[in-house]
Amino acid sequence: MRDFGYTLETAMADVIDNSVTAKASKVEILAETATDEPWIAIVDNGAGMTEPELIEAMRPGTKNPLQEREGHDLGRFGLGLKSASFSQCRQLTVITRKDGLTSAATWDLDKVAKTNDWRVDLEDNLTDIPGVSRLPETGTIVLWRKLDRLSTNFRHDTTKRSAEINKAISGAERHLRLCFHRYMEGSKPALRILLNERKLSPIDPFATDHPATQPGPEEPLPLLNGEVVTQCFTLPHHKMMSKSEWENLGGG
Ligand SMILES: Nc1ncnc2c1ncn2[C@@H]1O[C@H](COP(=O)(O)OP(=O)(O)OP(=O)(O)O)[C@@H](O)[C@H]1O
Ligand SMILES: [Mg+2]
Repeated sequence: MRDFGYTLETAMADVIDNSVTAKASKVEILAETATDEPWIAIVDNGAGMTEPELIEAMRPGTKNPLQEREGHDLGRFGLGLKSASFSQCRQLTVITRKDGLTSAATWDLDKVAKTNDWRVDLEDNLTDIPGVSRLPETGTIVLWRKLDRLSTNFRHDTTKRSAEINKAISGAERHLRLCFHRYMEGSKPALRILLNERKLSPIDPFATDHPATQPGPEEPLPLLNGEVVTQCFTLPHHKMMSKSEWENLGGG
Protein backbone atom coordinates (compact mmCIF):
# COMPACT_ATOMS: atom_id res chain seq x y z
CA MET A 1 0.00 0.00 0.00
CA ARG A 2 2.94 2.31 0.46
CA ASP A 3 4.10 1.96 -3.13
CA PHE A 4 1.23 2.71 -5.45
CA GLY A 5 3.40 5.28 -7.22
CA TYR A 6 2.35 8.47 -5.49
CA THR A 7 4.59 11.50 -5.29
CA LEU A 8 4.17 14.16 -2.61
CA GLU A 9 2.09 16.30 -4.96
CA THR A 10 -0.22 13.53 -6.15
CA ALA A 11 -0.63 12.34 -2.57
CA MET A 12 -1.59 15.85 -1.42
CA ALA A 13 -3.97 16.17 -4.37
CA ASP A 14 -5.71 12.91 -3.42
CA VAL A 15 -6.27 14.19 0.12
CA ILE A 16 -7.54 17.52 -1.25
CA ASP A 17 -9.92 15.59 -3.56
CA ASN A 18 -11.64 14.43 -0.39
CA SER A 19 -11.86 18.01 0.87
CA VAL A 20 -13.49 19.05 -2.40
CA THR A 21 -15.96 16.18 -2.14
CA ALA A 22 -16.71 17.31 1.43
CA LYS A 23 -17.53 20.76 -0.06
CA ALA A 24 -14.66 22.59 1.61
CA SER A 25 -14.12 26.16 0.45
CA LYS A 26 -10.71 26.43 2.10
CA VAL A 27 -7.82 23.99 2.34
CA GLU A 28 -4.74 24.89 4.34
CA ILE A 29 -1.51 22.99 4.02
CA LEU A 30 0.60 23.43 7.12
CA ALA A 31 4.06 22.07 7.60
CA GLU A 32 6.34 22.05 10.59
CA THR A 33 9.66 20.81 9.34
CA ALA A 34 12.29 22.35 11.62
CA THR A 35 11.72 19.97 14.49
CA ASP A 36 12.78 16.47 15.51
CA GLU A 37 9.37 15.18 14.51
CA PRO A 38 8.35 16.98 11.33
CA TRP A 39 4.74 16.89 10.21
CA ILE A 40 2.46 18.00 7.40
CA ALA A 41 -1.23 18.74 7.91
CA ILE A 42 -3.95 19.33 5.35
CA VAL A 43 -6.81 21.19 7.00
CA ASP A 44 -10.19 21.68 5.38
CA ASN A 45 -13.43 23.39 6.35
CA GLY A 46 -15.62 20.77 4.67
CA ALA A 47 -18.47 18.76 6.14
CA GLY A 48 -16.33 16.86 8.67
CA MET A 49 -17.20 13.40 9.93
CA THR A 50 -18.89 11.82 12.91
CA GLU A 51 -16.86 9.24 14.83
CA PRO A 52 -18.49 6.24 13.05
CA GLU A 53 -17.90 7.97 9.71
CA LEU A 54 -14.28 8.58 10.67
CA ILE A 55 -13.73 4.95 11.64
CA GLU A 56 -15.22 3.88 8.31
CA ALA A 57 -13.06 6.43 6.44
CA MET A 58 -9.91 4.98 8.03
CA ARG A 59 -10.71 1.53 6.64
CA PRO A 60 -8.63 0.69 3.56
CA GLY A 61 -11.08 0.08 0.71
CA THR A 62 -14.03 1.55 2.59
CA LYS A 63 -16.28 1.90 -0.47
CA ASN A 64 -17.01 -0.40 -3.37
CA PRO A 65 -15.70 1.07 -6.68
CA LEU A 66 -18.98 0.01 -8.33
CA GLN A 67 -21.11 1.93 -5.82
CA GLU A 68 -23.05 4.90 -7.28
CA ARG A 69 -21.66 8.21 -6.05
CA GLU A 70 -22.98 11.76 -6.07
CA GLY A 71 -21.96 13.80 -9.10
CA HIS A 72 -19.52 16.04 -7.19
CA ASP A 73 -17.79 13.11 -5.46
CA LEU A 74 -14.21 12.78 -6.72
CA GLY A 75 -13.64 9.45 -4.93
CA ARG A 76 -13.94 5.98 -6.37
CA PHE A 77 -12.02 3.29 -4.52
CA GLY A 78 -12.37 4.10 -0.84
CA LEU A 79 -8.60 4.00 -0.60
CA GLY A 80 -7.07 7.38 -1.45
CA LEU A 81 -6.83 8.82 2.06
CA LYS A 82 -4.89 5.82 3.33
CA SER A 83 -2.77 4.95 0.30
CA ALA A 84 -1.84 8.59 -0.43
CA SER A 85 -0.92 9.19 3.22
CA PHE A 86 1.09 5.99 3.67
CA SER A 87 3.04 6.78 0.52
CA GLN A 88 4.49 9.75 2.46
CA CYS A 89 4.35 8.84 6.13
CA ARG A 90 4.11 5.98 8.61
CA GLN A 91 1.69 7.70 10.95
CA LEU A 92 -1.64 9.07 9.76
CA THR A 93 -3.97 10.91 12.11
CA VAL A 94 -7.33 12.25 11.00
CA ILE A 95 -9.00 14.78 13.27
CA THR A 96 -12.48 15.82 12.28
CA ARG A 97 -15.34 17.90 13.65
CA LYS A 98 -19.02 17.66 12.81
CA ASP A 99 -22.11 18.76 14.74
CA GLY A 100 -19.85 20.19 17.44
CA LEU A 101 -18.18 16.84 18.15
CA THR A 102 -14.50 16.29 17.51
CA SER A 103 -13.03 12.85 16.85
CA ALA A 104 -9.57 11.67 15.94
CA ALA A 105 -8.10 8.37 14.81
CA THR A 106 -4.58 7.22 14.01
CA TRP A 107 -2.98 4.57 11.92
CA ASP A 108 0.59 3.98 12.98
CA LEU A 109 2.24 1.51 10.64
CA ASP A 110 4.94 0.71 13.22
CA LYS A 111 2.24 -0.36 15.62
CA VAL A 112 0.44 -2.37 12.95
CA ALA A 113 3.70 -4.16 12.15
CA LYS A 114 4.49 -4.76 15.81
CA THR A 115 1.08 -6.11 16.77
CA ASN A 116 0.38 -7.67 13.35
CA ASP A 117 -3.12 -6.29 13.72
CA TRP A 118 -4.92 -3.60 11.71
CA ARG A 119 -6.57 -1.90 14.66
CA VAL A 120 -7.09 1.84 14.36
CA ASP A 121 -6.42 3.96 17.48
CA LEU A 122 -9.03 6.46 18.58
CA GLU A 123 -7.46 9.47 20.24
CA ASP A 124 -8.96 10.73 23.50
CA ASN A 125 -6.50 13.48 24.20
CA LEU A 126 -6.56 15.85 21.28
CA THR A 127 -4.64 18.76 22.78
CA ASP A 128 -1.18 17.34 22.03
CA ILE A 129 -1.86 16.61 18.37
CA PRO A 130 0.09 19.06 16.19
CA GLY A 131 -2.04 21.46 14.17
CA VAL A 132 -5.23 20.57 16.05
CA SER A 133 -5.89 24.20 17.02
CA ARG A 134 -6.43 24.92 13.31
CA LEU A 135 -9.49 22.69 13.05
CA PRO A 136 -12.46 24.84 11.98
CA GLU A 137 -16.01 24.58 13.37
CA THR A 138 -16.65 21.81 10.92
CA GLY A 139 -13.89 20.23 8.94
CA THR A 140 -11.08 17.76 8.88
CA ILE A 141 -7.33 17.64 9.41
CA VAL A 142 -5.25 14.96 7.75
CA LEU A 143 -1.98 14.87 9.64
CA TRP A 144 1.11 13.06 8.42
CA ARG A 145 3.82 12.23 10.94
CA LYS A 146 6.88 9.96 10.69
CA LEU A 147 7.64 11.36 7.26
CA ASP A 148 10.16 8.69 6.33
CA ARG A 149 9.65 9.04 2.59
CA LEU A 150 10.26 12.78 2.61
CA SER A 151 13.44 12.79 4.62
CA THR A 152 15.49 9.89 3.44
CA ASN A 153 18.94 11.45 3.43
CA PHE A 154 19.24 13.51 6.56
CA ARG A 155 17.57 11.55 9.30
CA HIS A 156 19.95 12.92 11.96
CA ASP A 157 20.41 16.46 10.72
CA THR A 158 17.34 18.55 11.53
CA THR A 159 18.39 21.57 9.46
CA LYS A 160 19.17 19.64 6.30
CA ARG A 161 16.15 17.44 6.73
CA SER A 162 13.94 20.50 7.11
CA ALA A 163 15.39 22.00 3.92
CA GLU A 164 14.79 18.73 2.08
CA ILE A 165 11.14 18.51 3.15
CA ASN A 166 10.50 22.20 2.44
CA LYS A 167 11.91 21.77 -1.05
CA ALA A 168 9.57 18.85 -1.72
CA ILE A 169 6.60 20.86 -0.46
CA SER A 170 7.35 23.86 -2.64
CA GLY A 171 7.81 21.46 -5.58
CA ALA A 172 4.26 20.23 -4.95
CA GLU A 173 2.82 23.71 -5.19
CA ARG A 174 2.70 23.94 -8.99
CA HIS A 175 0.91 20.61 -9.30
CA LEU A 176 -1.80 21.73 -6.88
CA ARG A 177 -2.26 25.05 -8.69
CA LEU A 178 -2.75 23.14 -11.95
CA CYS A 179 -4.77 20.23 -10.61
CA PHE A 180 -7.40 22.33 -8.82
CA HIS A 181 -7.32 25.41 -11.07
CA ARG A 182 -10.97 25.18 -12.06
CA TYR A 183 -12.04 25.29 -8.42
CA MET A 184 -9.62 28.12 -7.61
CA GLU A 185 -10.53 30.48 -10.45
CA GLY A 186 -12.80 33.51 -10.52
CA SER A 187 -13.48 36.41 -8.16
CA LYS A 188 -15.44 34.10 -5.84
CA PRO A 189 -13.54 30.83 -6.14
CA ALA A 190 -15.15 27.61 -4.94
CA LEU A 191 -11.87 26.69 -3.29
CA ARG A 192 -8.92 28.54 -1.78
CA ILE A 193 -5.72 26.61 -1.13
CA LEU A 194 -3.16 28.07 1.26
CA LEU A 195 0.34 26.80 1.76
CA ASN A 196 1.75 27.86 5.12
CA GLU A 197 -0.63 30.86 5.14
CA ARG A 198 0.12 31.89 1.54
CA LYS A 199 -2.77 31.74 -0.92
CA LEU A 200 -1.96 29.78 -4.07
CA SER A 201 -3.07 31.19 -7.40
CA PRO A 202 -4.51 28.85 -10.04
CA ILE A 203 -2.66 27.90 -13.22
CA ASP A 204 -4.98 27.46 -16.19
CA PRO A 205 -3.09 25.16 -18.60
CA PHE A 206 -5.27 26.35 -21.51
CA ALA A 207 -4.51 30.03 -20.84
CA THR A 208 -8.20 30.64 -21.54
CA ASP A 209 -8.10 34.27 -20.40
CA HIS A 210 -5.04 35.21 -22.44
CA PRO A 211 -6.01 37.47 -25.38
CA ALA A 212 -3.69 35.63 -27.79
CA THR A 213 -5.04 32.14 -27.00
CA GLN A 214 -7.10 30.70 -29.85
CA PRO A 215 -9.96 28.57 -28.58
CA GLY A 216 -11.28 25.96 -30.99
CA PRO A 217 -14.95 24.98 -31.27
CA GLU A 218 -16.55 22.82 -28.60
CA GLU A 219 -17.05 19.32 -29.93
CA PRO A 220 -19.42 16.87 -28.29
CA LEU A 221 -18.21 13.30 -28.05
CA PRO A 222 -21.14 10.96 -27.44
CA LEU A 223 -20.31 7.98 -25.22
CA LEU A 224 -22.42 5.15 -23.82
CA ASN A 225 -23.23 6.89 -20.53
CA GLY A 226 -23.37 10.50 -21.66
CA GLU A 227 -21.60 13.14 -23.64
CA VAL A 228 -18.11 14.52 -23.17
CA VAL A 229 -17.43 17.95 -24.58
CA THR A 230 -13.93 18.44 -25.94
CA GLN A 231 -12.29 21.71 -26.89
CA CYS A 232 -8.90 22.54 -28.33
CA PHE A 233 -6.85 25.58 -27.33
CA THR A 234 -3.93 26.87 -29.35
CA LEU A 235 -1.59 28.52 -26.87
CA PRO A 236 -0.05 31.88 -27.77
CA HIS A 237 3.40 32.14 -29.30
CA HIS A 238 5.90 32.78 -26.51
CA LYS A 239 6.56 36.30 -27.81
CA MET A 240 2.96 37.14 -26.96
CA MET A 241 3.42 36.17 -23.30
CA SER A 242 5.31 37.49 -20.34
CA LYS A 243 8.10 35.34 -18.95
CA SER A 244 6.02 34.32 -15.92
CA GLU A 245 2.99 33.42 -18.07
CA TRP A 246 5.24 31.29 -20.29
CA GLU A 247 6.83 29.56 -17.32
CA ASN A 248 3.45 28.89 -15.71
CA LEU A 249 2.34 27.09 -18.84
CA GLY A 250 5.32 24.80 -18.78
CA GLY A 251 8.04 26.97 -20.31
CA GLY A 252 10.68 25.50 -22.62
N1 LIG B 1 -11.59 15.60 4.29
C1 LIG B 1 -12.65 14.81 4.42
N2 LIG B 1 -13.85 15.31 4.84
C2 LIG B 1 -14.95 14.52 4.99
N3 LIG B 1 -14.95 13.18 4.72
C3 LIG B 1 -13.80 12.62 4.30
C4 LIG B 1 -12.60 13.39 4.14
N4 LIG B 1 -11.62 12.55 3.73
C5 LIG B 1 -12.18 11.34 3.63
N5 LIG B 1 -13.48 11.36 3.96
C6 LIG B 1 -14.42 10.21 3.96
O1 LIG B 1 -13.62 9.05 3.95
C7 LIG B 1 -13.95 8.23 2.84
C8 LIG B 1 -12.70 7.50 2.39
O2 LIG B 1 -11.81 8.38 1.74
P1 LIG B 1 -10.76 7.79 0.69
O3 LIG B 1 -10.03 8.93 0.07
O4 LIG B 1 -9.97 6.74 1.36
O5 LIG B 1 -11.69 7.09 -0.39
P2 LIG B 1 -12.66 7.75 -1.48
O6 LIG B 1 -12.44 9.22 -1.55
O7 LIG B 1 -14.04 7.29 -1.12
O8 LIG B 1 -12.19 7.03 -2.83
P3 LIG B 1 -10.70 7.16 -3.54
O9 LIG B 1 -9.96 5.93 -3.15
O10 LIG B 1 -10.99 7.21 -4.99
O11 LIG B 1 -10.07 8.40 -3.00
C9 LIG B 1 -14.55 9.18 1.81
O12 LIG B 1 -15.40 8.51 0.92
C10 LIG B 1 -15.29 10.18 2.72
O13 LIG B 1 -16.54 9.63 3.08
MG1 LIG C 1 -10.51 10.04 -1.83
